[in-house]
Amino acid sequence: MAETELLENVYPIGSRLNELGRLEVGGCDVVELAAEFGTPAYIVAEDDLRARARGLQSAFGAASDDFELIFASKAFPCAAICALFAEEGFGCDVASAGEMAIALSGGVPAAKIQMHGNAKSELDLQRAVELGVGAIVVDNLRDLDRLERLVESPAKQRVYLRVAPGINPDTHPAISTGGPNTKFGFDLEHAPAAIARAQQIGSLNLAGLHFHIGSQIFDLSPFEGALQSLASLGDFKAYNLGGGLAAAYTAQDQPPSYAEYAAVKAGALESVFGPGHRLLDEPGRALVANGCVTLYSVESVKRNVDTYVAVDGGMSDNLRPMLYGARYEAEIADRFGGGTACHLVGKHCESGDILIRGADLNQPAAGDLVVVPATGAYGHAMANNYNGALRPPVIFASNGDARVVVRRESDDDLLVRDV
Ligand SMILES: Cc1ncc(COP(=O)(O)O)c(C=O)c1O
Repeated sequence: MAETELLENVYPIGSRLNELGRLEVGGCDVVELAAEFGTPAYIVAEDDLRARARGLQSAFGAASDDFELIFASKAFPCAAICALFAEEGFGCDVASAGEMAIALSGGVPAAKIQMHGNAKSELDLQRAVELGVGAIVVDNLRDLDRLERLVESPAKQRVYLRVAPGINPDTHPAISTGGPNTKFGFDLEHAPAAIARAQQIGSLNLAGLHFHIGSQIFDLSPFEGALQSLASLGDFKAYNLGGGLAAAYTAQDQPPSYAEYAAVKAGALESVFGPGHRLLDEPGRALVANGCVTLYSVESVKRNVDTYVAVDGGMSDNLRPMLYGARYEAEIADRFGGGTACHLVGKHCESGDILIRGADLNQPAAGDLVVVPATGAYGHAMANNYNGALRPPVIFASNGDARVVVRRESDDDLLVRDV
C-alpha cells in the first residue's frame, strides 16, 4: 500500500496509520500525544534511534576490523539522545563546552568525548583538557598554542588534526565543509606545517587526521578522493572521516544504506592507506533525522492568491528550510493524503518563514494537527526564541508509552536572563 511505503521511508521505523487513520509513532497515537503534551512538539521514536544505532554499528562491524563510531551531537544535542547513543556504544562529538556539558549530563564518559570547533575558546579547551576528553580535533594553530600551554607534561592529550581535503561533495554549499577554501581545518598547503608543529609539542599525541567534507551526501564517491588528498601528508594510525550520510526527507530521497556507506568508507581507507588503520566516523543526521516528527497545530488557513496554512511553530523550531532551502513533507496527522496545494508556513514575522513551499495537504483547516517527519537532525539543535517562541519539548515514544525528555520552555525561561 502506497501509504505504508511512505511511512517507512521518511517516518520513524514502526510508524503506521492506526484504525482511526491517525499516525502512530513509537506505538503512540500522535493526536493523543498532542492533546497531552501540546504543540509544537518533537516526537522521537526511541526504538528507531536504537535500531539505526545498531544498524550502523553492525554495518561498520562488517566493513572494518578497527573502527569507532562517534555521534555528532550537534545534530540533536540533548542529554537523553546523547545517553541513548552512548548506551549503543557510540562516542560523542561536541563542538563547544556547552555541547560537552549536555553530553556529560547524559552520562557520556569524558574519555568518549571528542571536542571540535573552528573557533574554540580558551574555556572550551581548558574544560576539555581538565575533564580528560578522549580527543581534541585541532582546527587551527591557535588551538595548538593553547593546548601547548594547557596540557601539562607528562600528561598526553590525544589530538587529531582537521584537514580540508579540497573536495566539494554534491550538497548545498552551506553544508559543504571540506572544499579548497573553507573556514574548517587546515587546507592542503598549510597542513604539513601544522602537523609538524603538533608533533613537536611533547604533551600532545597526534593520533591521526580528520576531515568532514559535508552533510546530506548521497553520492559517496568523494570520500575516496578526500582520503587520496590526505595521502601526501603522511601515514597515521587513525583517520576520522567525519559524518555526512544523507537522510530521506521526502519520499523521493533514497540515501545510500548504512552498509554501502560503511563499505565505501572502510574500502576507501584500506585502498588508499592499506590495512591496519583505525577508522573513526562521526554520523549525526543519518542517525537522528528520521526518528523524529514535529507536531504542529494549524492556527489559520487563508487564501491570498495561494493558500497559506499557518502553524504554531516555524523558523523557531526548524530553521533548515530558511537557511538553505531544505525540503520536507507534511500530512494532516489524522487525515493523510493530499488534494489541497498550499504553503505550510510558520508564525514568525518574516515572509521567508515557510516550512514547506508547495505542500499538498488533505483539506487543511484551522485546528488540524499537522505532522512534519524527518525533523530529528538540526531542528531542536537550531531552535530559537524568535518572536518569543517557546522552544518545543522533546518527547520520547516507545511501545505505546511517552515521556518528556526536554520540557517545553515557559515565559519564565524567556525572562530568566534579563537582569
Ligand atoms: C565535524 C563534524 N563531524 C560530523 C558532523 C555530522 O555530519 P552529519 O550530520 O552530516 O552526519 C558534522 C556536521 O556538521 C561536523 O561538523
